[in-house]
Amino acid sequence: MAAHTLVVGGTGMLSELCEALAGDGGRLSLLSRHASRAAGTDGFDCDYHDGVAFAAALDAAIARSGPIDRAVAWFHTLKIEAPRLLAARVEGAMFQVLGSAVADPAHPERLETARRVAEGLPRCAVRQIVLGFRVEAGRARWLTNAEISQGALEAIRSDRPLTVIGQTEPWSARP
Ligand SMILES: NC(=O)c1ccc[n+]([C@@H]2O[C@H](COP(=O)([O-])OP(=O)(O)OC[C@H]3O[C@@H](n4cnc5c(N)ncnc54)[C@H](OP(=O)(O)O)[C@@H]3O)[C@@H](O)[C@H]2O)c1
Repeated sequence: MAAHTLVVGGTGMLSELCEALAGDGGRLSLLSRHASRAAGTDGFDCDYHDGVAFAAALDAAIARSGPIDRAVAWFHTLKIEAPRLLAARVEGAMFQVLGSAVADPAHPERLETARRVAEGLPRCAVRQIVLGFRVEAGRARWLTNAEISQGALEAIRSDRPLTVIGQTEPWSARP
């Protein structure tokens, strides 16, 4: 069966990323509350706060398109069951998309804590994509959706363990 990429939260700022991944020729599954509305891909509706529903959606995607060779995961919080349920089913790289808070120097443990979602799961290789900010002409701003999708695509294509889109330093400069 063709390679299977599964994206959690791919219908918003990661839409352009999903369009690019869909063009790769493999199988693409999207999971979000309204994923089935996205045209051209296999969408599985579920709320990631509901672990049972999320696991069922993952298993439905696997039943349709085979084992998950690559995952891209955008969760607003990692303090739920869903990230671990996903990691347990990934047989390849799992790209975690992470908000800038993981780069807060007051909490240097956050990246490592996020990485531990795959602890004890040798088939799941965690890659981390940190969403930073940009400073232009002395003014700081958050990333645009296009910058986020493009940066995430580059991170996935290069398979880097850690990518920062934009910058997170100096931390005091963030918008
Ligand atoms: N550092 C930065 O610059 C930075 C970082 C983060 C965000 N942003 C900006 O902020 C804007 C808003 O961000 P956002 O966090 O709302 O991201 P978003 O990617 O625009 O939307 C959230 C995604 O997660 C899904 N989702 C949300 N809650 C869910 C749930 N409970 N269960 C399953 N799926 C769920 C949504 O789909 P459904 O609605 O179908 O569930 C959607 O695909 C973005 O457009 C981006 O430009 C910037």
